[in-house]
Amino acid sequence: MCYAIPGKVVSVDGDTATLEYFGERKKASVIRNGGITPAAGGYAFAQGGIVVDVITESEAVPMLEAWKERFFELKRIDDGIANAKAEGKNDNGIFFKKIESGMLATRSDMEKVLAAGGADGGDAGALESLFSFANHVRAKALGNSCCVHGIIEFSSHCRNACAYCGLNKNNEKIKRYRMGPGEIVETAVHAARSLGFRALVLQSGEDAYYTDEMLAEIVRRIRERCGVLIFMSIGERPFESYKKLYGAGAYGVLLRFETSNPKLYAVMRPGKRLDGRLALIRRLITAKFVVATGFIVGLPGSTNQDLINDILLTKSLRPGMYSFGPLIPHPETALASAPRVPLSQALKAIAVARIADPDSKILATTALETLDRDGRRKGLLAGANSLMINLTPEAYRRDYEIYPGKAGNSGKTQDTIRDTLQLLHSLGRAPTDLER
Ligand code: 5AD
Repeated sequence: MCYAIPGKVVSVDGDTATLEYFGERKKASVIRNGGITPAAGGYAFAQGGIVVDVITESEAVPMLEAWKERFFELKRIDDGIANAKAEGKNDNGIFFKKIESGMLATRSDMEKVLAAGGADGGDAGALESLFSFANHVRAKALGNSCCVHGIIEFSSHCRNACAYCGLNKNNEKIKRYRMGPGEIVETAVHAARSLGFRALVLQSGEDAYYTDEMLAEIVRRIRERCGVLIFMSIGERPFESYKKLYGAGAYGVLLRFETSNPKLYAVMRPGKRLDGRLALIRRLITAKFVVATGFIVGLPGSTNQDLINDILLTKSLRPGMYSFGPLIPHPETALASAPRVPLSQALKAIAVARIADPDSKILATTALETLDRDGRRKGLLAGANSLMINLTPEAYRRDYEIYPGKAGNSGKTQDTIRDTLQLLHSLGRAPTDLER
């Protein structure tokens, strides 16, 4: 099983390698002190634009043989879906033509698009044409590349009191757990070696129990045994802590800014400030971490203007990946009785983000799937091109309750993986690295 296709290393120029996937060339960074040194003529895996592993020719050739026919078949499937004519009605038609001609979406275009179609039950035709247009934009900019990350939720302890999150420290009704360092390492190594993942997110509440040194040691032990891109999703720590983790081999960070509206931020995250979080995110991006960031769609009190600001802020950060999903109200939080976010709104957010930033990576999140059983497929057809699979050991999974009814909580990991691969196959998506 495999969620990444190895690339043939065409050339290495300084810290940049050029990899070829069945005739398509993509660039990836080489991290010199990371111990992974690709050489022209060899084979490598890249994730998030970083070379994470090199493999021998005898390992690569059978993998590429296995992928070869399937790769072109997937491309045909994706082309067939993405090129189906996205006819825009009325204003949408003019908007689509403008984007097709290479112009950028303006704020007022986005306003119109978000207002179009209304909430669920609105003009279904206008919405469908918007989503299929966004899908077309995705295919044109990035082809059928997609990425599949695994996520391991290693601690449900949190020192924060976020109004939206079930892990907030005031929730006494959930069971708190911590995985031991050895257990985290083994879960990650299993994910990489036995399940074939090449990108893993290690996520927890903001839990000071794990010192920087402990986390760095966990990362080092994983990286000694597997070539994977590790994302830390551990909330706010000093930049220096993240630097230590980078040194240990975790080049990715998943940290959302949650909302671009500073007033709303202060209400949603008591005692915290948006500018502090943004400063950290910006610093991480400047320091060349692969940063996945984004926001929550549909926080009470947020408007379409806020959503546009959220998307434009994410775009301005030039992140490695957009990660945003709908609010799923948790009964043990201040937002228990917040209105359910319409699926159409969550999908519109994806479509608008895609049109605003055509060659970005956009995750179809678990929250989207929680909102609608078919949410991942719908998200992938509205402009998204990345997925995450929950690999938290089954004994803990239910207790990581950021919101209730989290998709992928029941069911076996193997089944989720199989379903995900079937989904990607049916849509014609191939797990080559997404960097252009
Ligand atoms: N609904 C949707 N997303 C949530 N998150 C936390 N609580 C919720 C919820 N109730 C998101 C936040 C956080 C990420 C790990 O999960 O954006 O950054």
